[in-house]
Amino acid sequence: MIVLGVESSCDETGLALYDTERGLLAHALHSQVAMHEEYGGVVPELASRDHIRRALPLLEQVLAQADLPMERIDAIAYTQGPGLAGALLVGSSVACSLALALDKPVLGVHHLEGHLLSPLLATERPEFPFVALLVSGGHTQLMRVDGVGRYTLLGETLDDAAGEAFDKSAKLLGLGYPGGPAISRLAEFGDPEAYKLPRPMLHSKDFNFSFSGLKTAVLTVVKNNAADIANVCEQDKANIARGFVDAIVDVLTAKCVLALKHTGLKRLVIAGGVGANRQLRASLNEAAAKKRFKVYYPELEFCTDNGAMIAFAGALRLERNPDAAQRDYAFNV
Ligand code: KG4
Ligand code: ZN
Repeated sequence: MIVLGVESSCDETGLALYDTERGLLAHALHSQVAMHEEYGGVVPELASRDHIRRALPLLEQVLAQADLPMERIDAIAYTQGPGLAGALLVGSSVACSLALALDKPVLGVHHLEGHLLSPLLATERPEFPFVALLVSGGHTQLMRVDGVGRYTLLGETLDDAAGEAFDKSAKLLGLGYPGGPAISRLAEFGDPEAYKLPRPMLHSKDFNFSFSGLKTAVLTVVKNNAADIANVCEQDKANIARGFVDAIVDVLTAKCVLALKHTGLKRLVIAGGVGANRQLRASLNEAAAKKRFKVYYPELEFCTDNGAMIAFAGALRLERNPDAAQRDYAFNV
């Protein structure tokens, strides 16, 4: 069965073809980062319009990559939510219109399920059950995963998501959008002893997170240095970045270790954009060696939003339940 995946929840248009026999056949992505950069964040209206422009050329691209005619698609999976409403509507209307034209079934996929299952696309796939840390721009959740569709939420952020904390703190440091990779790069040059920032809820003994206070701590440090970020020296910016990254990584690592202890599981899976962060990966790898668990990551290109994870999640759902897809083309998000 060949499933076309369509992702358009935020600022990336992603299309992919996944074959349940042969694996991932093709994937293509257009990132809108350059377009939103000058506004310092995603402009929803521009995002929707750009998804409209990109979707069909990307479809042609994946079909050419896989060397398949469109008629070979057996089902279409699209991101149903959560995400920007207008952006989601583009992906769902593309998917439903194609499905109607091709007379194929269509299936809405939860964006987070796409992220959650994306590590299973890697060469080294984790077996179920595992603990998953989902760290994206919109969510931070710890979950117990017993199989496809069998997810138990252990805890989540009470305010900002981890990616949001990265982006907002980066903005406070005058770094561009998206701030996650930028603050991470800057932190490499920072002195770990210069600023010890708070580790919110580190000892709360549950699996919840809170990152808004950490962002405020970054703001306070910046303000104590200068009235304007432009007047903070480069080394000090790097030191603040380092203080921030060390704090957030410590909390994420500690909660993962706690969740593994609580569930008795020995496999940890990381998903979502912040999963690309090198300091987080280094810290988790160190904890894994010390505490004797195994940690799995998605391929770097599948950490952030992409069509492959949606095609894949759709295919896994359809394998388990062929009736999951419908021929009701009234798209809904
Ligand atoms: O999963 P994703 O592409 O989109 C959502 O579903 O939200 O995640 C995007 C988030 C952004 O906040 C971005 O700054 C963050 O992931 N991110 C990173 C890195 N790469 C992406 N954060 C820290 N370090 C990175 N290397
Ligand atoms: Zn995402």
